[in-house]
Amino acid sequence: MQSHTLREHFRALGAVVVAALASSCGTSPTASSGDAACVVPDTGLPTDVFCTGLYTNRSTATFRADVMPYTPGVTLWSDGAEKHRYLYIPKGTTIDTTNLDAWKFPVGTKAWKEFRVDGALIETRLFWKRNETTWESGTYIWDATAANATLNTDPHGVILPSGYEIPTAKDCDKCHHGGADRLLGVEAVALALPAATGATLASLAEKGLLSAPPARTAVSLPEDETGKAAAALGYLHANCGMPCHSTRGLGDETKLVLRIRAGEIWPAGGTSSNGASVATTDLAVSTMGVAPTTAAVAHAFPGALRITPGAHDKSLVWLVSHLRGNYQMPPLVSHRVDEAGTQSVASWIDALSP
Ligand code: HEC
Repeated sequence: MQSHTLREHFRALGAVVVAALASSCGTSPTASSGDAACVVPDTGLPTDVFCTGLYTNRSTATFRADVMPYTPGVTLWSDGAEKHRYLYIPKGTTIDTTNLDAWKFPVGTKAWKEFRVDGALIETRLFWKRNETTWESGTYIWDATAANATLNTDPHGVILPSGYEIPTAKDCDKCHHGGADRLLGVEAVALALPAATGATLASLAEKGLLSAPPARTAVSLPEDETGKAAAALGYLHANCGMPCHSTRGLGDETKLVLRIRAGEIWPAGGTSSNGASVATTDLAVSTMGVAPTTAAVAHAFPGALRITPGAHDKSLVWLVSHLRGNYQMPPLVSHRVDEAGTQSVASWIDALSP
């Protein structure tokens, strides 16, 4: 009770300071957080997570009504962290989905991702499309009581005693450049898969938030005779293809494509799911029996191909994702192998006929 009163007191004080600052420092108070003490700078992100527009009442248990929780049907492994994602699309705007595989978000779009390790809230990440050409991004680190989180400005990755790494602001774009318009999991394929929840493709279409909703809003990943392809493709799509290994990611120079395109699942003009067979996906074509293009990798893993059908231990997509240290994939932020995810890749490869 007492702390509540004190908090109210400081908030009132804060509002006075903000009003004074706003007139002198080129910053402006924002109504977006519903908190009068909030300041949003003209460039960059607010330092207080409670000023980003996700939570209400300075509580991590209550969210603004216009923010949509969601989970993509396939997700990135984050060293075992439990993650919750939220999307905000400004009222009266739509996502430009003219190219189903390359969404363009309206100015004002925000996406957040909360990370919990062993049940404790560690960080809340944010991407905010400030104007047509600027995406602000960063992460807020929670204090031990999960009462406050401040924008991380440490230029080096912060590694917690548990080994969990909080990325720097510069790390964000190394992966998020793989998005057509920065966001990665907010895309047609991931939101149309059976495991997607919350703001799925179907729900976004129903709410009128897509400029060109596809006729079919639920799809599944292609399967082959092994019955194990879809799980492996989903793992590779979210962990390797979305961020880097696609024609638009940083890993493009190797021409290794591990991203499933919407066009591979929604055949041109058609409405049926699974139009593509596994064998004709960019993923299969750029991996099956294909030798690595990087000399150092070829030298480090003699005889291995990107995928050697029948032998996961001769297949680079498994070898490097099941590795931490030199040659590990993804090459940043992660320090623990995703045992279940990489096992799905091994099981598929082993079931393929040599
Ligand atoms: C190792 C690559 C990688 C790094 C580094 C990374 N992200 Fe992501 N991020 C992803 C992938 C892949 C997804 C989509 C899959 C998911 O949500 O699990 C994603 C999802 C998100 C989302 C949900 C919206 C979306 O794009 O799907 C937010 C918000 C986000 N990241 C913020 C950040 C911020 C902020 C940073 C830097 C502090 C960061 N990320 C660093 C790969 C990365």
